[in-house]
Amino acid sequence: MKGIILAGGAGTRLHPLTKVTSKQLLPIYNKPMIFYPLQTLIDAGIREILIIIAPDHAGDFLKLLGSGKEFGCKFSYEIQDKPEGLAQAFVIGENFIGDDDVTLILGDNLFDDDFSQAVKEFKTGARVFAKQVKDPERFGVVTFDENHKVISIVEKPKEPKSNYAVTGLYVYDNSVVAKAKSLQPSARGELEITDLNNVYLQEGKLDVAFVNGQWLDTGTFESLFEAAAFARDKILKQ
Ligand code: TTP
Repeated sequence: MKGIILAGGAGTRLHPLTKVTSKQLLPIYNKPMIFYPLQTLIDAGIREILIIIAPDHAGDFLKLLGSGKEFGCKFSYEIQDKPEGLAQAFVIGENFIGDDDVTLILGDNLFDDDFSQAVKEFKTGARVFAKQVKDPERFGVVTFDENHKVISIVEKPKEPKSNYAVTGLYVYDNSVVAKAKSLQPSARGELEITDLNNVYLQEGKLDVAFVNGQWLDTGTFESLFEAAAFARDKILKQ
């Protein structure tokens, strides 16, 4: 199993903080944001990691993370020229992925949970990770049966059919590269991860696991602040 951290994007909701640096380099209490998703992959047992970044601050990521040796990992880097969607990670990452399965984590998602079992048990198809939220209409929303087989997955529905949001962690088998390449850009010009997940769903190969601990998407001022408070509390409790 290989890993990808998607850490490009524009971070417009965090302007002016992100005018001169990348969102994923901003501090969450005592560490740059990207350290959190990186640690989640490491804790899940993943050591070969591709970091996808925007062109503007690529040098800063390299300076911060280097070869990966310091983390007991091997890091590779690719540039995403424009933020053309989450599913583009698998087109950009084709050579890196090779013949392996791959876990994608978003560079601004903070999980307080251990996914090593869910990753180890993964065999084929695709697995998304859901969390109950109060405002599901802001996310991809998933419904599923008693065997955790996905029934539907809809991006930002006006009338959500459940309160389970799809979080920024996804596990895919090797067919993800071909599937991502077959997607058409959406109306907003992006290769949508929900469209990709729907391809797996149509094949009956999409299942759902759950995030038991905290999950924070740190893309807004409020969630950035909350994440810093959470990280601080955790350290003070140690
Ligand atoms: P978003 O928060 O949806 O987008 P963004 O980071 O550009 O922020 P904003 O909406 O405020 O402009 O992205 C979620 C994560 O995925 C984040 O870590 C950035 C990353 N991302 C990419 O790397 N490439 C992309 O094409 C997109 C859409 C997101």
